[in-house]
Amino acid sequence: LLGPPGVGKGTQAEKLAPELGTCHLSTGDVFRQGQIVPDGQRSPALDTALGAMRRGELVSDDIVIDMVRERAGCLRCRGGFLLDGFPRTVAQAEALDSLLEEQGTHLDAAVYYTVPRQTLIERLSGRRTCPSCNAVFHIASRPPRLPGICDDCSGRLVQRADDCPESISVRLAAYDQNTTPLIDYYRKTNRLLVVEADGPTDTICMRTLALLAEYKVDYHDNGDRNARPATF
Ligand code: AP5
Repeated sequence: LLGPPGVGKGTQAEKLAPELGTCHLSTGDVFRQGQIVPDGQRSPALDTALGAMRRGELVSDDIVIDMVRERAGCLRCRGGFLLDGFPRTVAQAEALDSLLEEQGTHLDAAVYYTVPRQTLIERLSGRRTCPSCNAVFHIASRPPRLPGICDDCSGRLVQRADDCPESISVRLAAYDQNTTPLIDYYRKTNRLLVVEADGPTDTICMRTLALLAEYKVDYHDNGDRNARPATF
């Protein structure tokens, strides 16, 4: 899943993975889980990654690629895989293609979600997350039943450190500079599917599934597909 911070990649991944029967790998979630490792027990690479995340900067390609490589088993899951927030640079996309080739598989499609920039800022500023079970809420569009309390596990909701205004602008700038070239990368290799991500989350999920079906992505035997970029 490709798209700017706050476009709804994580929200859609939670809906799509059970529908498609795929494994879901979010590089952001993996790094955030590293936050629970106590100070002094983290590897230097994890410390560097967490520092970059807090500032809203991208983690270096080497660290991210190593981390995905360590989880290469995910790419061989029987039902296929759904990558959320990876790749984010052309170097990562090239490394992913090589890794998939080594694993005897390939990427069927890159689903690119788009919304106006102001919507991104509203979504990021109002997001609240549960550090215990990773559930995601929004103070306006998806409020928890009890303010500040997770519906799923009753954990206390928090605002992500990188959802402060300073980090949001750094993240959007990092996206513009490093990740937007991937739109062309996947368009040129006929794997780009563009999905409008405005509107109710269920509608966006249905749009995505319909587009994947129209594109003839077959998750189980890597069947044929139309060789053209598409917009739903
Ligand atoms: P990551 O966790 O991947 O963050 P991100 O890409 O910035 O994406 P977000 O999680 O902020 O947003 P999202 O698109 O998933 O939106 P969500 O569904 O939560 O990465 C964090 C950091 O880790 C990076 O900044 C970087 O430092 C590092 N990192 C990770 N991967 C890396 C990589 N490959 N290379 C280098 N560094 C990497 O939705 C947002 C809010 O909107 C929620 O509150 C949700 O409820 C709400 N919402 C969602 N959909 C809708 C809708 N349709 N209508 C109304 N509200 C909605």
